[in-house]
Amino acid sequence: MTARFITFEGIDGAGKSTHITAVAERLRCAGTNVVSTREPGGTPLAERLRELVLHEPMDTLTECLLVFAARRDHLQRVIEPALARGDTVLCDRFTDATFAYQGGGHGAPWATLEALETMVQGELQPDLTLWFDLPASVAAQRRAQARMADRFEAKDLAFFERVRSAYASRAASSPDRNRSGRCAPWRRWATTVQIPLQFSKEGSGSDRIQPAACRRRFPKNRGP
Ligand code: TYD
Repeated sequence: MTARFITFEGIDGAGKSTHITAVAERLRCAGTNVVSTREPGGTPLAERLRELVLHEPMDTLTECLLVFAARRDHLQRVIEPALARGDTVLCDRFTDATFAYQGGGHGAPWATLEALETMVQGELQPDLTLWFDLPASVAAQRRAQARMADRFEAKDLAFFERVRSAYASRAASSPDRNRSGRCAPWRRWATTVQIPLQFSKEGSGSDRIQPAACRRRFPKNRGP
């Protein structure tokens, strides 16, 4: 089976987390071994770093270093072993989020982030990134109905607009792996379920087979 590394990105409130569960279930139904994980986090050490990053005040460089330290541990203990086994890794946020939040949101220099990216992950990049793009004002309305905000979720609209445009720059600089989706219901399936199933670096179609039980749970896409 072809190992695949798929990341899910978007500003807080974009709705990506819901989709990861659906994609994981769909891929498992199709017989794929799936590792579903998140950043910052995914290992005991990285989860502890996540708590610090999300809740302790700190300067931007410290924030970048902690996020990349968590990523290093996550890569070594979870992501790389899973890819070596041939599994599909679904990761709720990855390095694009660092460029978006620490870079766009908090003003960390792009060059610093690029240097850390190379140091921590070498050549490794996701095979596919699903970026859930929506205006910061819409995401803010969704967040208002959700649970208590962490340090990032409590930021103002201007912060999230900067995050969004940094995501757009990252997507433009690596169009081969990026797919962006807006969040109209019919498109959810198109952007998050169909693309990962059809995506294959080597063109193998084995993941496209849908057992009947899966077909019932995941109806065909409907256009607008
Ligand atoms: P999130 O996926 O929103 O978790 P949850 O849905 O449980 O709130 O991620 C938590 C926050 O971490 C989010 O606000 C973005 C932030 N973050 C960064 O600032 N830099 C990073 O590199 C990553 C991966 C996340």
